Amino acid sequence: MARSSIRHDILMAMTGALLLLVFAEPVRSQELGGDVPAGKTLYERHCARCHGVGGWGDGPFAQEESIPPANFHSPIMQGRSDEQMVMAIEFGLAMSKMHGWKGRLNEQEMRDVVSYIRFLTQRAR
Ligand code: HEC
Repeated sequence: MARSSIRHDILMAMTGALLLLVFAEPVRSQELGGDVPAGKTLYERHCARCHGVGGWGDGPFAQEESIPPANFHSPIMQGRSDEQMVMAIEFGLAMSKMHGWKGRLNEQEMRDVVSYIRFLTQRAR
């Protein structure tokens, strides 16, 4: 009896730690340290034509895409960690117009742009 309850405790502690990791991720990763004003310039130059000035996935090019550009306000995008965003920007996504920006944006610029996207989506429309 005692033995299985210890095992249960360990299991619960592990589950707790796992949940903590999953939910702590976006918060912890907010510390990318990107520069918001620099990100705004980059975003408006390179990203807004598809993702929209406000980040709603409604830029003028959005119509032409078979796969719609990500709406950064969606719960799915809000759930992405900053690292995941940077990875998507760096390497792009298979089978979509979202090509990788490696070689066009440097590491700092990718961080700036992600910080700007976070800034955009924390504001009400
Ligand atoms: C030619 C249009 C186009 C441009 C320009 C563009 N994107 Fe995208 N982007 C897309 C499309 C389409 C998707 C959705 C692809 C999918 O769901 O497979 C996407 C998805 C994304 C995602 C979501 C990745 C994920 O985790 O699902 C991020 C982040 C992103 N874009 C960032 C950017 C940034 C930053 C820029 C500017 C540097 C940019 N995009 C420029 C079309 C574009």
